[in-house]
Amino acid sequence: MPLAATQSASRANKMIEPCTFVIFGAMGNLARNKLLPAIYHLEEAGRLPGNTAIIGFTRQQWQHDKEWRQPMNELLSKQARGGVKEEVLERLHRRMQMFTGDMTDHGSLRQLKQMLSADKSLPKNLIFYMAIPPAFYIPVAQAISDAGLNQEEHGWCRVVIEKPFGHDIESATVLNQSLHRHFHEHQLFRIDHYLGKSTVQNVLVFRFANLMLEPLWNRNYIDHVQITHSETQGIAGRASFYDGVGALRDMIQSHLLQMLTLVAMEPPANLEAESLRDEKVKVLKSLRPIPRNAVNAHAFRAQYIHGEIKGEAVVGYLDEDGVAEKSTTETYAALKLYIDNWRWRGVPFYLRTGKRMCRDSSLISIRFKHPPQQLFRQTHIEQLKPNWLLLGIQPQECVRLEMQVKQTGLELLTETTRLDASYCAASQYQLDAYEGLLLDVIENDRSLFLRYDEVHWAWEAVDPILKIWDTERDFIHTYPAGSWGPSGVHRLFDQEDHYWRNYLDEED
Ligand code: BG6
Repeated sequence: MPLAATQSASRANKMIEPCTFVIFGAMGNLARNKLLPAIYHLEEAGRLPGNTAIIGFTRQQWQHDKEWRQPMNELLSKQARGGVKEEVLERLHRRMQMFTGDMTDHGSLRQLKQMLSADKSLPKNLIFYMAIPPAFYIPVAQAISDAGLNQEEHGWCRVVIEKPFGHDIESATVLNQSLHRHFHEHQLFRIDHYLGKSTVQNVLVFRFANLMLEPLWNRNYIDHVQITHSETQGIAGRASFYDGVGALRDMIQSHLLQMLTLVAMEPPANLEAESLRDEKVKVLKSLRPIPRNAVNAHAFRAQYIHGEIKGEAVVGYLDEDGVAEKSTTETYAALKLYIDNWRWRGVPFYLRTGKRMCRDSSLISIRFKHPPQQLFRQTHIEQLKPNWLLLGIQPQECVRLEMQVKQTGLELLTETTRLDASYCAASQYQLDAYEGLLLDVIENDRSLFLRYDEVHWAWEAVDPILKIWDTERDFIHTYPAGSWGPSGVHRLFDQEDHYWRNYLDEED
């Protein structure tokens, strides 16, 4: 059972086996910002089974434990919800150790294997988390396998692979084949942390647990769908990863397309991982291929220049440390897609994402069509506003329906009223997606992880755009940091009255 609503119940009934959790790249961005805080919170909640052990695999030599504990404590103090707790840190330290080695060298992995068999307190079940640059996935998988750590003789072995899974279709295929040389499919967990976000899961509950939506959820009633992810942060010191990758690969091929599949999929036969994945793949396969000569009509890219965010001046992308001179890597990408099936044919799905934008926000906005009859034309109501259904992913988790009602008073005038199907507030205690997903790996629940065909079809969707953008490297549109992106992007809209829905509250 994958969904938030059912998760805690099903988890409570499960026998969860302890494991040794090896983090490659334990000192990197992802581990520091996401994995370690998630592990801390699982520890705090008492969710780490028995003598589960954490091993941080790094290149660095450590003279003594204090050397890494000190910075880790500082980091967790900043990230722990509601403040860090000394006794939780203590418990975490008892589980945790560092291992120094070269992750691509099977000699180092053999030493790890020796350590694992010598230390009887370390559980035999293994999780390897690749929190490392994608270029290392294949060599590290090879090294694990050469050391025989992929064998499941004394316990299970699972590998978590971060996105981006490949750089394009070809490299994704090669990566998948290489992984399969060393691991069985049941050992592979391709993560997309957006699937761990609670409102993203809520899309499914909302759609399939409420009968009244289903008759409206199609081309007859829905005008278009928008999926927006905007960030105020820039590349946060990740130029070595980001430059040359860009927003389309970093966000749209994975997170935004996954959200699109949840909005558009048919009800699955049941909540088993394979049934869900089958339905998501059907959506991706139904995406109308973008002809190469129509890429400009379907996709728009841009890069931020200097500007101001929250009152502070920030530099443009080209002035960020580590970015190549004259780089045309996009920090903003927008796309128009169509799903050619019975439910969605003709309904545009607009996707956009950008760094250094005006706000931090992820929002799915669904606009319904106008009523067929202009009944109020002869009244004071000049133009009726359409209904919007808004699914706030972050920072506000929210399900909201906007409807038109009559204003009080003598005139026939309308106003927008909002039906909130949940509290619409940013909670400081929001669970992070990684917490649930790490637990899923330990519990062997694969429903929120990607099957390879999902990854493949998502690459298929963006491939024509990547091919054109990769060759047109002499020009890119720009937008000022702190704005809502480039103005020219409006050309993607199908109709004149389409516009980007930036906020939950339009008057914001
Ligand atoms: C990551 C991208 O996958 O998702 C980052 O590589 C992006 O560039 C991040 O900032 C956004 O995730 P979240 O959970 O902060 O919205």
